[in-house]
Amino acid sequence: LTYRIGLIPGDGIGKEVIPAAQRIFTALSSQSIRFEFENLAAGFETFKKTGDALPDATVEKLKSCHAALFGAVSSPSHKVEGYSSPIVGLRKKLDLYANIRPVKLTTGKRPIDLVIVRENTECLYIKKESISGEPGSRVALATRQISEFASRRIGKVALELAQSRSRRFGRKSKVTIVHKSNVLSVTDGLFRESVRNVYDEGDWDGVEIEDQIVDSMVYRLFREPDDGAAALVGSLGLVPSVNQGEKFIMGEPVHGSAPDIAGQGIANPIAAIRSVAMVIGKLGHSDLAGRIENAVDETVETGITTRDMGGKNSTEEVTIAIEKKLAKA
Ligand code: NAI
Repeated sequence: LTYRIGLIPGDGIGKEVIPAAQRIFTALSSQSIRFEFENLAAGFETFKKTGDALPDATVEKLKSCHAALFGAVSSPSHKVEGYSSPIVGLRKKLDLYANIRPVKLTTGKRPIDLVIVRENTECLYIKKESISGEPGSRVALATRQISEFASRRIGKVALELAQSRSRRFGRKSKVTIVHKSNVLSVTDGLFRESVRNVYDEGDWDGVEIEDQIVDSMVYRLFREPDDGAAALVGSLGLVPSVNQGEKFIMGEPVHGSAPDIAGQGIANPIAAIRSVAMVIGKLGHSDLAGRIENAVDETVETGITTRDMGGKNSTEEVTIAIEKKLAKA
């Protein structure tokens, strides 16, 4: 069995963590499973060289791959003519409508284990912006789109995930619909109602549903600094994600290109490596995904960590430690 994996390092630390993640795929290769790689260009540096942040060749070659791994790209915070975020473009072109972000912390007073399921294709990311008026009195507008179709299909992804977790852990799982329908009653109201309809129409044994206004959801996550905040903030270099649609899957560490530490060899590779585990799990090899997870946990437990986690090790040292654990497993 040979999997073809598209690698899109992008900019900044993307170019450091994706090669580290590639080594993890290689470390898992055996007689029965092999990985081949296709290195692909995208990002701000690609834009500066070619005038295109997401070359057509990248999208075309991805279509011949089984899965992909994306690093991070640097996006200018002001409008640059002709530049458009490649990650947003890729999600759209490959219809990777669901972004799945597990947030897990087993240490601390109260362990946390939740998964954020985010809709990737709509809301403000349809990127319909306009500006009018004279300097001094200009008004800029962005259109926000919420459709019943996209709300239902992301709701289904969250409910299916919750049900599979409920079966795996042998306890109830809860889906929380996060919204702002107290203010945006038409758009977020439709979102909330659509997800609830999917729940009401199906047999979601083991799954409860609730909804919560985004402000209080954030408060709930951060209320106890020992767990929520540590997991969500203290460890950006730890949080993986996948972007998935019906046909394709792309792993992506949640963090950005981190220009403040790029090129120093100190970026935490764990978010990218955990994204590899998610991709491999979704390709149907949960045993291999579990091996990566264990190798990462053991490495962290032995104190081999990068600076963002309070450690002293380099990207290379953490990667080698994980590779060694994988070789032993
Ligand atoms: P960022 O995630 O790049 O960095 C935030 C802070 O976390 C920085 O201090 C950075 O050093 C640290 N950090 C992030 N990942 C780390 C890792 N793996 N190891 C150690 N420390 C890590 O977010 P920021 O600073 O808001 O954005 C920087 C650039 O990244 C911008 O150009 C932005 O557009 C881009 N970005 C790209 C994303 C993507 O490609 N999906 C997502 C978020 C931001």
